Amino acid sequence: MNDDVEASMFAHKHIAFGLAAMVWLAFGGAALAETATPAALKIGQELFVENCEVCHQADAIGEPGVAPSLTNPELLSISSDTLLMGTIRDGREDTGMPPFAHLGRKDVRAIVTYLRSHARGPNRAEEVDSESDARGDPRLGQQWYNNICSTCHGLAGDGYEAGGTGTAIGLPGFLNKVSDGFIRETIKKGRSNTRMLAFQGPEALANLSDQEIDDIIVYLRGLAEE
Ligand code: HEC
Ligand code: HEC
Repeated sequence: MNDDVEASMFAHKHIAFGLAAMVWLAFGGAALAETATPAALKIGQELFVENCEVCHQADAIGEPGVAPSLTNPELLSISSDTLLMGTIRDGREDTGMPPFAHLGRKDVRAIVTYLRSHARGPNRAEEVDSESDARGDPRLGQQWYNNICSTCHGLAGDGYEAGGTGTAIGLPGFLNKVSDGFIRETIKKGRSNTRMLAFQGPEALANLSDQEIDDIIVYLRGLAEE
């Protein structure tokens, strides 16, 4: 095929996909705050068992090196429906998380409703996503990352592929969907009942300052641009 024709076909496909994704999110991204009926929860749970449990385990508690926990209170409290639904729809390229666009918006929404039934406390996604962007020194961030984070998340941030137990936080599939506030909160608070510990406060493995955490975020953002 002629290169120009191929390029333009690619562009068209790309635009068509982009539009479909926008329509999908416009309807699917709205808050699911309304309380779920028992019938809706049951449908969501069945869909979860059928499609997700093989990796994410019963009650979505996760399995180190296989798939992360989806029901820890920290993740649920800082993730918007747009983030969860978009991640499920698109998967995460170059990781073990496949895309589930074929399920359709309604089924994905039902799964998210089921996951949300494990939440404790209010959803803070709006507040967290409106935090200011990280500013800092990526070279310092890289030193912290290599010293503390890379054992679990991989030197290049490619996660399980590198043999670690942490997810692929250096790849676009993650970075292009989350806010700096989301990353910042996760580093500060960690995630209960997983190997992701808190990195701030007296109990923390390493008590990183706000600036050091921002340095790491700036470094991670640079990885997705390479
Ligand atoms: C074949 C295994 C597999 C299946 C099946 C699977 N996942 Fe995943 N999922 C993963 C992996 C691996 C990751 C982490 C990817 C990475 O390293 O970033 C992940 C990540 C996620 C995340 C991001 C979590 C976070 O901590 O940010 C969500 C949300 C998610 N999966 C939801 C689902 C849902 C819902 C289903 C079912 C519709 C599903 N997954 C099915 C393997 C799977
Ligand atoms: C002992 C291993 C370990 C170390 C060290 C570690 N992490 Fe994690 N991290 C994890 C695991 C495991 C998860 C996913 C939780 C799960 O499996 O449910 C995670 C999740 C995350 C997430 C959320 C990713 C997502 O997919 O939603 C971010 C962001 C993160 N870690 C950043 C860091 C940073 C930055 C450092 C270094 C300061 C660090 N982690 C150090 C194990 C680790």
